[in-house]
Amino acid sequence: MEKIEKTVLVTGGAGFIGNHVVRRLVNKYPNYRVVNLDVLSYAGNLENVKDVERESNYDFVRADITDLEEIRGVFTTYAPDVVIHLAAESHVDRSIEDPLIFVKTNLLGTATMLQVAKESWKDNYEGKLFYHVSTDEVYGSLGETGFFVEETPYDPRSPYSASKAGSDHLVRAWGHTFGLPIVLSNCSNNYGPYQFPEKLLPLFINNIKLNKSLPVYGKGVNVRDWLYVEDHARAIDDIMHKGKQGETYNIGGHNEYRNIDLIRLLCKLMDKKLGRPEGASEGLITYVTDRAGHDMRYAIDATKLKEDLGWMPSLQFEEGLAKTIDWYLDNEEWMTGVTSGAYQTYYEKMYG
Ligand code: NAD
Ligand code: TYD
Repeated sequence: MEKIEKTVLVTGGAGFIGNHVVRRLVNKYPNYRVVNLDVLSYAGNLENVKDVERESNYDFVRADITDLEEIRGVFTTYAPDVVIHLAAESHVDRSIEDPLIFVKTNLLGTATMLQVAKESWKDNYEGKLFYHVSTDEVYGSLGETGFFVEETPYDPRSPYSASKAGSDHLVRAWGHTFGLPIVLSNCSNNYGPYQFPEKLLPLFINNIKLNKSLPVYGKGVNVRDWLYVEDHARAIDDIMHKGKQGETYNIGGHNEYRNIDLIRLLCKLMDKKLGRPEGASEGLITYVTDRAGHDMRYAIDATKLKEDLGWMPSLQFEEGLAKTIDWYLDNEEWMTGVTSGAYQTYYEKMYG
């Protein structure tokens, strides 16, 4: 590779959002060395980054962010200038089943990354940055009106969002107390290629394809604000390069849907793609017991990111959804790979 300008360590780069961040950095910045650090949990898959694995500015290291010695070793080997920290346990339903792994990974893991960055950078922070990627779920749940802004008080309600909120506080504490150069972003629900089929959209796309029932929690009236994953990766790139140190940026698509409306739209688009009679897939909708503590509505106000850094979402939702459906239908092998083995046990346990 050409002269290395900086080394960027991306944690969780084999997961859903991480692979899009890794791909973007590797392709757009040939002078950056991009190191993908991932433990390859059930949610991490090297197939997700296969198209960049031979690039000379890409490296992969298998390591666990909760293992202090392992992380020290990674910093010694690669001497990163920038950390983009995405590695986390990320699924709310799993956090209800098994909260402790969320506390371990999201809290201890983030503290370990912060501490090793601090040690390794030895208080010489010139050109260094610790970028923490977080979620809008830390702000809690909205009623019918209003939006989350950067100043909205934290009010997390699930073990997942509480552990992410705690990790945000840890990042700010290392920034405030030790002067570590930090930046944070809190994003709304992402959708797009390579999302593990435990989350709503890939799960339902796969179930529609297989003519399996679509388990809608409660009455399906909960609202989420959906953003195409590549738009999130572009926002991360913008914030890493142009964001102000110590700041937080909210990222969202101003694209709210009630779950049931989204699911009906998905069914309609999939009927067309699969050549099924209109209304066929809607017949698969099954209302099931609501998620415990189910947050009613999330909605992001991304004005700061738009005004300060000029970021805008690039895709209309129907276009993004159509692209997403095409990707899952065209990548059957990927879906088969990730849904074999342990996924079956997960599905059985969660949905019976
Ligand atoms: P994901 O579950 O798809 O990927 C997480 C990745 O982290 C996986 O590759 C996994 O192997 C890795 N990982 C887990 N534990 C690890 C450990 N101990 N050490 C090293 N690697 C480990 O998650 P995602 O949806 O890509 O989310 C990435 C980040 O973005 C998370 O921090 C999440 O909270 C945040 N986020 C996600 C969304 C969303 O809609 N998916 C929205 C906003 C913010
Ligand atoms: P999910 O993709 O798990 O994201 P999050 O909980 O982080 O927002 O779920 C999105 C919405 O879809 C949420 O309101 C829960 C709902 N949902 C269902 O109705 N059925 C399902 O099987 C899943 C996984 C989610």
